[in-house]
Amino acid sequence: MDLQGKRLLVTGGAGLIGAPLASRLAEDNQVVVADDLSNAAPENVPDGLEFVEADLTDPEAVAEVITPDLDGVFHLAAAEKYVDTDDPRQQFEANSSMTHNVLERMREVDVTDLAYTSSSTVYGEAPRPTPEDYAPLEPISVYGATKLAEESLCSVFAHSYGFDVKVFRFANIVGPRFGAGVVPDFVEKLQDDPTSLTILGNGRQEKSYMHVSECVDAMCHVVEHAEGPLSVYNLGTRTTTSVDRIADVVSEEMGLDPDYEYTGGDRGWTGDVPKMRLSMEKLRALGWQPSLTSDESVRKAARELVDLTR
Ligand SMILES: NC(=O)c1ccc[n+]([C@@H]2O[C@H](COP(=O)([O-])OP(=O)(O)OC[C@H]3O[C@@H](n4cnc5c(N)ncnc54)[C@H](O)[C@@H]3O)[C@@H](O)[C@H]2O)c1
Repeated sequence: MDLQGKRLLVTGGAGLIGAPLASRLAEDNQVVVADDLSNAAPENVPDGLEFVEADLTDPEAVAEVITPDLDGVFHLAAAEKYVDTDDPRQQFEANSSMTHNVLERMREVDVTDLAYTSSSTVYGEAPRPTPEDYAPLEPISVYGATKLAEESLCSVFAHSYGFDVKVFRFANIVGPRFGAGVVPDFVEKLQDDPTSLTILGNGRQEKSYMHVSECVDAMCHVVEHAEGPLSVYNLGTRTTTSVDRIADVVSEEMGLDPDYEYTGGDRGWTGDVPKMRLSMEKLRALGWQPSLTSDESVRKAARELVDLTR
Protein backbone atom coordinates (compact mmCIF):
# COMPACT_ATOMS: atom_id res chain seq x y z
CA MET A 1 0.00 0.00 0.00
CA ASP A 2 1.26 3.44 -0.90
CA LEU A 3 1.29 5.42 2.37
CA GLN A 4 0.13 8.72 0.88
CA GLY A 5 -3.25 10.39 1.24
CA LYS A 6 -4.82 7.42 3.03
CA ARG A 7 -7.13 7.31 6.04
CA LEU A 8 -5.51 4.96 8.55
CA LEU A 9 -6.32 3.64 12.02
CA VAL A 10 -3.54 2.94 14.54
CA THR A 11 -4.74 0.83 17.47
CA GLY A 12 -2.51 1.16 20.53
CA GLY A 13 -1.54 4.50 19.02
CA ALA A 14 -0.61 5.99 22.39
CA GLY A 15 1.95 3.24 23.05
CA LEU A 16 5.74 3.05 22.79
CA ILE A 17 5.61 2.03 19.10
CA GLY A 18 2.08 3.18 18.18
CA ALA A 19 2.59 6.87 19.06
CA PRO A 20 5.68 7.50 16.88
CA LEU A 21 4.15 5.32 14.14
CA ALA A 22 0.94 7.37 14.16
CA SER A 23 2.96 10.63 14.03
CA ARG A 24 5.05 9.33 11.17
CA LEU A 25 2.00 8.15 9.17
CA ALA A 26 0.27 11.50 9.82
CA GLU A 27 2.99 13.30 7.82
CA ASP A 28 1.32 12.06 4.61
CA ASN A 29 -2.00 10.54 5.71
CA GLN A 30 -5.07 11.15 7.84
CA VAL A 31 -4.62 9.13 11.03
CA VAL A 32 -7.08 8.02 13.71
CA VAL A 33 -5.64 6.73 17.00
CA ALA A 34 -7.58 4.26 19.15
CA ASP A 35 -6.28 3.32 22.60
CA ASP A 36 -7.88 2.56 25.96
CA LEU A 37 -4.96 4.32 27.74
CA SER A 38 -4.48 1.27 29.98
CA ASN A 39 -0.72 1.46 29.36
CA ALA A 40 -0.32 5.07 28.23
CA ALA A 41 -1.11 8.54 29.52
CA PRO A 42 -3.43 10.89 27.59
CA GLU A 43 -0.44 13.12 26.76
CA ASN A 44 1.13 10.17 24.92
CA VAL A 45 -1.50 10.53 22.16
CA PRO A 46 0.31 12.44 19.41
CA ASP A 47 -0.80 16.07 19.17
CA GLY A 48 -3.29 17.00 16.51
CA LEU A 49 -4.49 13.49 15.68
CA GLU A 50 -8.07 12.26 15.84
CA PHE A 51 -8.26 10.16 19.02
CA VAL A 52 -10.87 7.68 20.23
CA GLU A 53 -10.54 6.23 23.73
CA ALA A 54 -11.76 2.69 23.16
CA ASP A 55 -11.35 -0.73 24.75
CA LEU A 56 -10.96 -2.97 21.70
CA THR A 57 -11.88 -6.14 23.56
CA ASP A 58 -15.42 -4.77 23.17
CA PRO A 59 -16.78 -5.44 19.64
CA GLU A 60 -19.04 -2.38 19.84
CA ALA A 61 -16.07 -0.11 20.52
CA VAL A 62 -14.25 -1.74 17.59
CA ALA A 63 -17.26 -1.04 15.35
CA GLU A 64 -17.02 2.64 16.26
CA VAL A 65 -13.38 2.98 15.25
CA ILE A 66 -13.26 0.66 12.21
CA THR A 67 -15.42 2.43 9.67
CA PRO A 68 -15.80 1.88 5.91
CA ASP A 69 -13.92 5.10 5.09
CA LEU A 70 -10.62 3.62 6.34
CA ASP A 71 -7.98 2.46 3.86
CA GLY A 72 -6.05 0.38 6.36
CA VAL A 73 -5.45 -0.59 9.98
CA PHE A 74 -2.21 -0.81 11.95
CA HIS A 75 -3.15 -3.04 14.88
CA LEU A 76 -0.72 -2.61 17.78
CA ALA A 77 -2.99 -2.59 20.83
CA ALA A 78 -2.07 -5.37 23.26
CA ALA A 79 -2.35 -5.90 26.98
CA GLU A 80 0.93 -6.66 28.78
CA LYS A 81 3.98 -7.87 26.97
CA TYR A 82 7.20 -9.82 27.31
CA VAL A 83 6.37 -11.65 30.53
CA ASP A 84 3.63 -14.03 31.49
CA THR A 85 1.56 -12.17 34.00
CA ASP A 86 -0.12 -13.51 37.12
CA ASP A 87 -3.17 -13.91 34.94
CA PRO A 88 -2.02 -15.33 31.58
CA ARG A 89 -5.57 -16.47 30.73
CA GLN A 90 -6.77 -12.86 30.88
CA GLN A 91 -3.83 -11.76 28.71
CA PHE A 92 -4.55 -14.50 26.15
CA GLU A 93 -8.25 -13.74 26.03
CA ALA A 94 -7.85 -9.94 25.84
CA ASN A 95 -5.27 -9.97 23.06
CA SER A 96 -6.73 -12.74 20.93
CA SER A 97 -10.27 -11.37 21.21
CA MET A 98 -9.04 -7.86 20.34
CA THR A 99 -7.38 -9.12 17.16
CA HIS A 100 -10.38 -11.27 16.25
CA ASN A 101 -12.70 -8.26 16.81
CA VAL A 102 -10.50 -6.11 14.57
CA LEU A 103 -10.40 -8.71 11.79
CA GLU A 104 -14.14 -9.44 11.89
CA ARG A 105 -15.06 -5.76 11.83
CA MET A 106 -12.64 -5.06 8.97
CA ARG A 107 -14.30 -7.86 6.97
CA GLU A 108 -17.75 -6.45 7.76
CA VAL A 109 -16.89 -3.00 6.38
CA ASP A 110 -14.60 -4.28 3.61
CA VAL A 111 -11.36 -2.73 4.88
CA THR A 112 -8.77 -5.36 4.00
CA ASP A 113 -5.29 -3.87 4.55
CA LEU A 114 -3.85 -4.80 7.94
CA ALA A 115 -0.47 -4.45 9.62
CA TYR A 116 -0.25 -6.72 12.66
CA THR A 117 2.48 -6.57 15.32
CA SER A 118 3.65 -10.00 16.42
CA SER A 119 6.82 -10.97 18.25
CA SER A 120 10.00 -13.02 18.10
CA THR A 121 8.52 -15.03 20.98
CA VAL A 122 6.51 -17.09 18.42
CA TYR A 123 9.80 -18.90 17.57
CA GLY A 124 10.42 -20.12 21.12
CA GLU A 125 14.02 -21.25 21.64
CA ALA A 126 15.10 -21.47 18.01
CA PRO A 127 18.50 -21.61 16.25
CA ARG A 128 19.93 -18.13 15.54
CA PRO A 129 19.69 -16.06 13.43
CA THR A 130 16.09 -17.22 13.07
CA PRO A 131 14.51 -16.74 9.62
CA GLU A 132 10.79 -16.11 9.10
CA ASP A 133 10.26 -19.59 7.61
CA TYR A 134 11.78 -21.37 10.63
CA ALA A 135 9.66 -24.24 11.92
CA PRO A 136 8.32 -25.71 14.12
CA LEU A 137 6.98 -22.65 15.92
CA GLU A 138 7.01 -23.68 19.58
CA PRO A 139 6.53 -20.63 21.84
CA ILE A 140 7.47 -21.06 25.50
CA SER A 141 5.35 -18.22 26.96
CA VAL A 142 1.60 -17.55 26.92
CA TYR A 143 2.47 -14.16 25.37
CA GLY A 144 4.22 -15.98 22.49
CA ALA A 145 1.35 -18.44 22.16
CA THR A 146 -1.11 -15.55 21.99
CA LYS A 147 0.89 -13.85 19.26
CA LEU A 148 1.04 -17.12 17.29
CA ALA A 149 -2.72 -17.62 17.66
CA GLU A 150 -3.31 -14.05 16.43
CA GLU A 151 -0.96 -14.62 13.48
CA SER A 152 -3.04 -17.71 12.63
CA LEU A 153 -6.22 -15.60 12.59
CA CYS A 154 -4.47 -13.11 10.28
CA SER A 155 -3.57 -16.02 7.98
CA VAL A 156 -7.21 -17.09 7.76
CA PHE A 157 -8.36 -13.60 6.79
CA ALA A 158 -5.52 -13.25 4.27
CA HIS A 159 -6.15 -16.58 2.57
CA SER A 160 -9.93 -16.87 2.82
CA TYR A 161 -11.28 -13.31 2.91
CA GLY A 162 -9.06 -11.36 0.52
CA PHE A 163 -7.07 -9.46 3.15
CA ASP A 164 -3.56 -8.08 2.59
CA VAL A 165 -1.78 -8.63 5.91
CA LYS A 166 1.73 -7.64 6.94
CA VAL A 167 2.87 -9.46 10.07
CA PHE A 168 5.82 -8.01 12.00
CA ARG A 169 7.82 -10.24 14.32
CA PHE A 170 9.61 -7.72 16.53
CA ALA A 171 12.81 -8.24 18.46
CA ASN A 172 12.94 -6.07 21.61
CA ILE A 173 11.90 -2.55 20.70
CA VAL A 174 13.37 0.19 22.88
CA GLY A 175 12.73 3.91 23.11
CA PRO A 176 11.81 6.89 25.27
CA ARG A 177 8.98 5.37 27.30
CA PHE A 178 8.86 3.93 30.80
CA GLY A 179 7.01 0.62 31.10
CA ALA A 180 7.92 -3.02 30.50
CA GLY A 181 11.41 -3.90 29.32
CA VAL A 182 14.91 -4.20 30.69
CA VAL A 183 16.19 -0.69 29.81
CA PRO A 184 13.45 1.27 31.64
CA ASP A 185 13.53 -1.32 34.44
CA PHE A 186 17.24 -0.64 35.07
CA VAL A 187 16.80 3.14 34.92
CA GLU A 188 13.96 2.98 37.44
CA LYS A 189 15.82 0.60 39.77
CA LEU A 190 18.92 2.78 39.72
CA GLN A 191 16.86 5.86 40.45
CA ASP A 192 15.53 4.09 43.54
CA ASP A 193 18.95 2.77 44.62
CA PRO A 194 22.01 4.15 42.78
CA THR A 195 24.40 1.77 44.60
CA SER A 196 23.10 -1.64 43.55
CA LEU A 197 21.18 -3.17 40.67
CA THR A 198 19.24 -6.43 40.77
CA ILE A 199 19.50 -8.25 37.45
CA LEU A 200 16.97 -10.96 36.58
CA GLY A 201 18.74 -14.23 35.64
CA ASN A 202 22.54 -14.47 35.29
CA GLY A 203 23.02 -11.36 33.11
CA ARG A 204 24.20 -13.44 30.15
CA GLN A 205 20.86 -13.40 28.31
CA GLU A 206 21.68 -12.09 24.84
CA LYS A 207 19.04 -10.50 22.60
CA SER A 208 18.56 -8.11 19.73
CA TYR A 209 17.34 -4.58 20.56
CA MET A 210 15.98 -2.19 17.95
CA HIS A 211 15.28 1.50 18.50
CA VAL A 212 11.63 2.46 17.99
CA SER A 213 12.54 5.09 15.36
CA GLU A 214 14.03 2.35 13.17
CA CYS A 215 11.12 0.01 13.91
CA VAL A 216 8.64 2.60 12.62
CA ASP A 217 10.77 3.24 9.55
CA ALA A 218 10.99 -0.48 8.74
CA MET A 219 7.24 -1.02 9.26
CA CYS A 220 6.39 1.74 6.76
CA HIS A 221 8.91 0.31 4.28
CA VAL A 222 7.39 -3.18 4.49
CA VAL A 223 3.81 -1.90 4.18
CA GLU A 224 4.81 0.04 1.07
CA HIS A 225 6.89 -2.66 -0.60
CA ALA A 226 5.91 -6.20 0.46
CA GLU A 227 3.50 -8.21 -1.69
CA GLY A 228 0.54 -9.96 -0.01
CA PRO A 229 -1.69 -11.69 0.78
CA LEU A 230 0.29 -12.56 3.95
CA SER A 231 3.83 -11.22 4.38
CA VAL A 232 5.78 -12.01 7.53
CA TYR A 233 8.86 -9.93 8.41
CA ASN A 234 11.32 -10.03 11.29
CA LEU A 235 12.22 -6.57 12.61
CA GLY A 236 15.36 -6.30 14.68
CA THR A 237 19.09 -5.70 14.48
CA ARG A 238 21.79 -8.08 13.25
CA THR A 239 23.67 -7.83 16.54
CA THR A 240 22.71 -8.59 20.13
CA THR A 241 23.33 -7.07 23.56
CA SER A 242 23.72 -8.98 26.81
CA VAL A 243 21.77 -7.98 29.90
CA ASP A 244 25.08 -7.27 31.68
CA ARG A 245 26.03 -4.93 28.86
CA ILE A 246 22.68 -3.13 29.19
CA ALA A 247 23.36 -2.71 32.91
CA ASP A 248 26.77 -1.18 32.06
CA VAL A 249 25.29 1.18 29.46
CA VAL A 250 22.46 2.37 31.72
CA SER A 251 24.91 2.85 34.63
CA GLU A 252 27.27 4.85 32.40
CA GLU A 253 24.45 7.04 31.10
CA MET A 254 23.37 7.73 34.69
CA GLY A 255 26.96 8.38 35.81
CA LEU A 256 26.79 5.52 38.36
CA ASP A 257 28.90 2.49 39.31
CA PRO A 258 26.49 0.14 41.11
CA ASP A 259 27.13 -3.40 42.35
CA TYR A 260 25.22 -6.02 40.39
CA GLU A 261 23.18 -8.70 42.12
CA TYR A 262 21.73 -11.61 40.18
CA THR A 263 18.54 -13.56 40.80
CA GLY A 264 20.30 -16.48 39.06
CA GLY A 265 19.43 -19.03 36.40
CA ASP A 266 19.86 -18.70 32.65
CA ARG A 267 16.58 -16.82 32.07
CA GLY A 268 14.93 -13.79 33.65
CA TRP A 269 11.48 -15.30 34.22
CA THR A 270 9.36 -18.31 33.29
CA GLY A 271 8.85 -18.12 29.54
CA ASP A 272 11.88 -15.87 28.91
CA VAL A 273 13.84 -16.87 25.78
CA PRO A 274 17.42 -16.22 26.95
CA LYS A 275 19.03 -15.89 23.53
CA MET A 276 17.32 -14.28 20.55
CA ARG A 277 18.61 -12.99 17.24
CA LEU A 278 16.44 -12.75 14.15
CA SER A 279 17.55 -13.12 10.56
CA MET A 280 17.25 -9.76 8.81
CA GLU A 281 17.86 -11.17 5.32
CA LYS A 282 14.26 -11.00 4.12
CA LEU A 283 14.00 -7.35 5.12
CA ARG A 284 17.38 -6.60 3.52
CA ALA A 285 16.16 -8.20 0.27
CA LEU A 286 13.14 -5.85 0.41
CA GLY A 287 15.54 -2.88 0.54
CA TRP A 288 15.69 -1.94 4.24
CA GLN A 289 18.51 -2.37 6.76
CA PRO A 290 18.90 -1.08 10.31
CA SER A 291 21.47 1.69 10.68
CA LEU A 292 21.90 1.26 14.45
CA THR A 293 23.43 -1.82 16.08
CA SER A 294 21.74 -3.43 19.06
CA ASP A 295 24.23 -1.75 21.45
CA GLU A 296 23.65 1.64 19.81
CA SER A 297 19.87 1.19 20.06
CA VAL A 298 20.16 0.38 23.78
CA ARG A 299 22.40 3.38 24.41
CA LYS A 300 20.08 5.73 22.51
CA ALA A 301 17.05 4.52 24.49
CA ALA A 302 18.94 4.64 27.80
CA ARG A 303 20.00 8.24 27.10
CA GLU A 304 16.42 9.21 26.18
CA LEU A 305 15.03 7.61 29.33
CA VAL A 306 17.62 9.24 31.56
CA ASP A 307 16.80 12.59 29.91
CA LEU A 308 13.12 12.03 30.74
CA THR A 309 14.03 11.70 34.43
CA ARG A 310 15.88 15.07 34.49
N1 LIG B 1 7.94 -3.26 22.50
C1 LIG B 1 8.40 -4.45 22.14
O1 LIG B 1 9.57 -4.78 22.39
C2 LIG B 1 7.51 -5.43 21.43
C3 LIG B 1 8.07 -6.66 21.04
C4 LIG B 1 7.27 -7.57 20.38
C5 LIG B 1 5.97 -7.24 20.05
N2 LIG B 1 5.45 -6.05 20.45
C6 LIG B 1 4.05 -5.75 20.13
O2 LIG B 1 3.94 -4.48 19.50
C7 LIG B 1 2.73 -3.86 19.87
C8 LIG B 1 3.00 -2.49 20.45
O3 LIG B 1 3.86 -2.63 21.57
P1 LIG B 1 4.34 -1.42 22.46
O4 LIG B 1 5.70 -1.76 22.93
O5 LIG B 1 4.10 -0.14 21.75
O6 LIG B 1 3.34 -1.60 23.69
P2 LIG B 1 2.59 -0.49 24.55
O7 LIG B 1 2.04 -1.19 25.75
O8 LIG B 1 3.46 0.70 24.75
O9 LIG B 1 1.40 -0.09 23.59
C9 LIG B 1 0.21 -0.84 23.50
C10 LIG B 1 -0.95 0.14 23.62
O10 LIG B 1 -2.17 -0.61 23.56
C11 LIG B 1 -3.09 -0.04 24.48
N3 LIG B 1 -4.07 -1.07 24.85
C12 LIG B 1 -3.91 -2.14 25.67
N4 LIG B 1 -5.06 -2.82 25.78
C13 LIG B 1 -5.97 -2.18 25.01
C14 LIG B 1 -7.35 -2.39 24.73
N5 LIG B 1 -8.03 -3.40 25.28
N6 LIG B 1 -7.97 -1.53 23.88
C15 LIG B 1 -7.30 -0.48 23.33
N7 LIG B 1 -6.00 -0.24 23.57
C16 LIG B 1 -5.35 -1.07 24.40
C17 LIG B 1 -2.23 0.43 25.66
O11 LIG B 1 -2.85 1.47 26.39
C18 LIG B 1 -0.96 0.91 24.94
O12 LIG B 1 -0.98 2.31 24.68
C19 LIG B 1 2.04 -4.82 20.85
O13 LIG B 1 1.14 -5.62 20.13
C20 LIG B 1 3.18 -5.66 21.37
O14 LIG B 1 2.75 -6.93 21.81
C21 LIG B 1 6.19 -5.12 21.13
